[in-house]
Amino acid sequence: MQHKLKKIKQDIINELERTNTLDQLEDIYNRYFSRNSGRLTQLSKDIKKVATDQKPVVGRLLNQIKKEAEQMFAQAKQDINRHSGHDANEADFFDPTLPALGPKPGNLHILTKMQYEIEDIFRQLGFIVADGPLLESDWYNFEALNIPADHPARDMQDTFYVAETLKHKNTDAQKKPKLVMRTHTSNVQVRAMEKYGVPIRCIAPGRVYRNEATDARHEHTFYQIEGLMVGENISVANLKSVIDNMIKAILGEKFKTRIRPGFFSFVEPGLEVDMSCSLCRGRGCRVCKHTGWVELMGAGMVHPNVLKAAKVNPDKYSGFAFGFGLERLAMIRYNIDDIRLFHSGDLRFLHQL
Ligand code: DAH
Repeated sequence: MQHKLKKIKQDIINELERTNTLDQLEDIYNRYFSRNSGRLTQLSKDIKKVATDQKPVVGRLLNQIKKEAEQMFAQAKQDINRHSGHDANEADFFDPTLPALGPKPGNLHILTKMQYEIEDIFRQLGFIVADGPLLESDWYNFEALNIPADHPARDMQDTFYVAETLKHKNTDAQKKPKLVMRTHTSNVQVRAMEKYGVPIRCIAPGRVYRNEATDARHEHTFYQIEGLMVGENISVANLKSVIDNMIKAILGEKFKTRIRPGFFSFVEPGLEVDMSCSLCRGRGCRVCKHTGWVELMGAGMVHPNVLKAAKVNPDKYSGFAFGFGLERLAMIRYNIDDIRLFHSGDLRFLHQL
């Protein structure tokens, strides 16, 4: 009997060595373990015939060989699976001692973070943070900002018009005002002066829309931050100082700004604010077209017509306004070369910052 058992073990080893499919493996397994005719099953039955004093020894050996045989079959199955590419055992493997995976922490969007940062900087300068609607009347987006219906400046800020009309109290032009997705955060200028009165210091961050063909530098939907300061004796010097403060706080002390003339209907004089090129530090490179400066924002002294639209006396009050793109500032700060990344939803981008 002991001899037979050892022989069976050797037979199994030999057979398994020649097996390379799961079907073959099952056949062999049945030949040893099947209920009626399996060789090991048969031997278990034969144990009755063994002399009583031998029974414990033979019984133990039989159990041991059965166990070993089961292990060899399991191992053979694993080998075959691994060979054919799907390891059932590995896939099923579960280690209960590992720590739980837990939820992946998210993070604020880079634009949200920058917006909060900029809000903090302006709050320290005594500005409030104002808000305005994304779907805006033609009045606040254009007319009140001294951009009449036939003005070419409208073409530069072509937008998405919404057919619905909005009942409005003021002038003829607003009797049948169109609704537009706001093209800039400048729409908050007149709203804020109406709501809070003057003197006022406010910024208005938020989303804006343009009917724009997109490329690495242009998006149809993006963020701007508008600034407005109106009071007595406010001048371009105040504007320059506020903008310098912000740029130094966001980008670093090394950055300089400069002001040159520009045109925007709602400011007089209108200004363009440039900052020293972050790539070449003002020495001149391809990005700044060898001037050492890149455009940062539009700005100027609030046009008397805009003050009038907000029922503010232009003989008593003056002020400055500015507006810039948040994505653009983030692109300069983090060296991002494609504006479309911000709203792409690509986690590889979003998790980095
Ligand atoms: N609203 C302008 C734009 O979207 C930016 C701008 C220019 C805002 C001059 C201002 C300003 O307040 O004074 O292009």
